[in-house]
Order: sequence, then C-alpha cells, then structure tokens
Amino acid sequence: MLALHGARARLRPPQPSDFRTLFEWFSDPEVVAPYDRFVSEPYDEFVRSMSGSASDPSSLAPRFVVERAKEPGPVGVVGHFTPHPVLETIEVWYIIGDRAARGQGLGREAVGLLADHLFATTSVERVGATCDVENLASCRLAEGLGFRREGTLRQAFYHHGRWHDVHLYGITRAERSPPASPG
Ligand SMILES: CC(C)(COP(=O)(O)OP(=O)(O)OC[C@H]1O[C@@H](n2cnc3c(N)ncnc32)[C@H](O)[C@@H]1OP(=O)(O)O)[C@@H](O)C(=O)NCCC(=O)NCCS
Repeated sequence: MLALHGARARLRPPQPSDFRTLFEWFSDPEVVAPYDRFVSEPYDEFVRSMSGSASDPSSLAPRFVVERAKEPGPVGVVGHFTPHPVLETIEVWYIIGDRAARGQGLGREAVGLLADHLFATTSVERVGATCDVENLASCRLAEGLGFRREGTLRQAFYHHGRWHDVHLYGITRAERSPPASPG
C-alpha cells in the first residue's frame, strides 16, 4: 500500500474501515464546510464515490487519509483533482476532520507530502489550491508551504447565504524543489 511519510503526518489510501469516520466528518458542516458549500449525500453514494475515485482525475473524493505519524487512525483527508479541461494543473484540497488535531502542523505537512507526491508521479509543473479569502487557516497553510497567491477570484463562490471571494494559490515544481546551490 502506498504511504507517504512525514515527521508528524502519514498519508495512506482510504480503506473501507475508514469510511464511517470520514462519512461522519462529511456529514457535519462545521467540520468540512466552515468556508465551503455544504453538500450531504447518503452513505451508499459516499462509498461509491470513494471506490471510483482512483481512476477518475476529476473526482473530488478523498485520495489519502491523514494519520499522525506515530498513531494510526484517521485525523484528516486530502485530495486532488484536475480543475480545468485544457490547462495542465492539479488542485489540492485538505481537511483535518478531527478538530482536536488541528493547529499542530498536520494539515501543512500532509499537503506538502501530497504536493511532493504529485510532482513525483505526474508531469505537471504547477500544483494549485483555492481558499475562501476568509479561511485564514487554509491560506496560511498554503503560504507556509511556499504556495504563491496568484490572484483573487471575486464573488466566485456562493455559500452560507452570500458570495465569497476566493484566493488562487500555486506552487511550481521548481519552487517546491529548488535546485541545489553550487558548491
Ligand atoms: C485548514 C485546515 C486543514 C488547517 O489544518 P491544520 O492542521 O489545523 O493546519 P496547521 O496546523 O498545519 O497550520 C497551518 C497554518 O494555519 C494556521 N492556523 C491554524 N488554525 C488557524 C485558525 N483557526 N485561524 C487562523 N490560522 C490558523 C496555523 O497557525 C498555521 O499558520 P502559521 O504557521 O503561519 O502560523 C483545517 O483548519 C481544516 O480542516 N479546516 C476545515 C476545512 C477547510 O477549510 N479546508 C481547506 C479548504 S481547501
């Protein structure tokens, strides 16, 4: 089983034994959608989307479960998808579903591991992320990894009863893995 290891976080593909925990997170708007549109789906559909995600580059289903490096058990999920029919870019998303595990660097490390994995296993030169401008934790997570804010889409996302601006972030292969300096 493919697993990505960091000092604090470990990523591994979701297993059927994770589905109930993940479904509970995705059924709670306070956990998954404080700055997002909340869409709930029945458990059967959730499981179906999880099972079909591996072969579908546009799937929004979780690709990896995030665990603490030294303590098995899901604390979050990360995913990636191709957001554009023509442009060659991949976008990542991330949720630390166990709210007690937030603020400990797990989210940032998990997204760094995912970006490195995408650069290692695909030919893309840019990995992107989008954040509601009010989602400070998400924006800071991306910025701390070296993602650059490339622009702001105005009034691009409707949730919680109003339109929201969204920051576009991106990091290039060269920025993520700068060439070693000579000498
Ligand atoms: C966004 C999220 C994944 C961050 O995960 P996390 O593990 O708590 O993040 P980290 O501990 O790695 O911290 C990343 C940065 O966010 C900051 N941060 C964490 N929680 C914060 C909060 N509530 N408010 C402001 N900043 C916060 C941290 O201080 C850190 O920035 P710094 O190093 O510049 O100080 C988590 O808050 C979450 O799951 N939110 C709900 C889902 C979501 O919004 N996902 C993003 C949409 S793509």
